[in-house]
Amino acid sequence: MTAPAADGTGEHTPPSLIARCGGIEFRNPVLTASGTFGYGKEFAVLFPLASLGGMVTKGISPNPRFGNPAPRICETASGMLNSIGLENVGLAGFEAEKLPFLRSCGTKVLVNFFGTNFDEYVECGRRLGWMDGVDGLEMNVSCPNIKAGGIEFGRDPRVLGELVRACRNVIEKPLWVKLTPNTSDIVALARACAENGADAVSVINTITGMAIDARTRRPRLATVMGGLSGPAIKPVALRMVYQIHRAGIGIPICGIGGIQSGLDAVEFFLAGATTVQVGTQNFIDPASSERVVREVEEFCRQNGISDVCELVGALEIQR
Ligand SMILES: Cc1cc2nc3c(=O)[nH]c(=O)nc-3n(C[C@H](O)[C@H](O)[C@H](O)COP(=O)(O)O)c2cc1C
Repeated sequence: MTAPAADGTGEHTPPSLIARCGGIEFRNPVLTASGTFGYGKEFAVLFPLASLGGMVTKGISPNPRFGNPAPRICETASGMLNSIGLENVGLAGFEAEKLPFLRSCGTKVLVNFFGTNFDEYVECGRRLGWMDGVDGLEMNVSCPNIKAGGIEFGRDPRVLGELVRACRNVIEKPLWVKLTPNTSDIVALARACAENGADAVSVINTITGMAIDARTRRPRLATVMGGLSGPAIKPVALRMVYQIHRAGIGIPICGIGGIQSGLDAVEFFLAGATTVQVGTQNFIDPASSERVVREVEEFCRQNGISDVCELVGALEIQR
């Protein structure tokens, strides 16, 4: 509970928002999600990035990528579909053009990364792990594995475990793995990460979907299918965070999916997430992540919570 002030003024000490997650200490538990916040620079004119717990960069691959043809974004009910195709500046471009700003932005920086095969993942993770200014790495395993007929690396617990182990062996920095929700057994995927040395799991990436324009009879995305994000996926994300937390895999969870407000973030904490990421909401209101931090703090004040950690996994279920 909130402690009364020692000076007898009736003022209360502010709640502690500090969150320790996957080998990193954050000033608060609110981060921004990969691909929805660029490399941070454009947002720094809107609010101090130091007010965030941290940010996760756009996914980096060893070589630059141009991504998929347009249209590659479309709006859906309570969400959006994207098929950006992992466009990014590549490792060298990231180090030369993006990292200098990130080093001075005053918040924790996780670099999201991926490859098109095992060797690329390992090489990318190893080189990012050496870079000064990178606090941790988040592996995006929602990429097609050409060797396995294009199935995402992260869908098979055995393949995922091997990939995590291979990267863990060359990365000393905190290593988070971002799980794909395109599975019937999210706990098996989370467990494969924990057993192979991951420090945390980020839950969830986008859900595969599609949209059709009935008048033209054409798909709305050039790639036909894409990844669904936004409030539409929040119940699925909450359910997966809850299932992983309940399974007790031994590493913390960063909750992602449809977070628009501090209350949404608190729901994820109650389900078992230690930190959260704000994604699609950044497109609607680019300053929303800072507001989410303030709203989480306000929630703690109003509910007599002295430490945000008290909320983690505190869901009450009638039996
Ligand atoms: C346009 C766009 C680009 C994204 N790019 C990446 C990416 O490069 N790497 C990754 O792991 N996730 C990526 N994501 C997934 C988000 O980080 C997040 O997991 C997902 O959108 C769900 O959260 P939300 O509902 O709050 O957006 C992207 C999402 C969107 C909408």
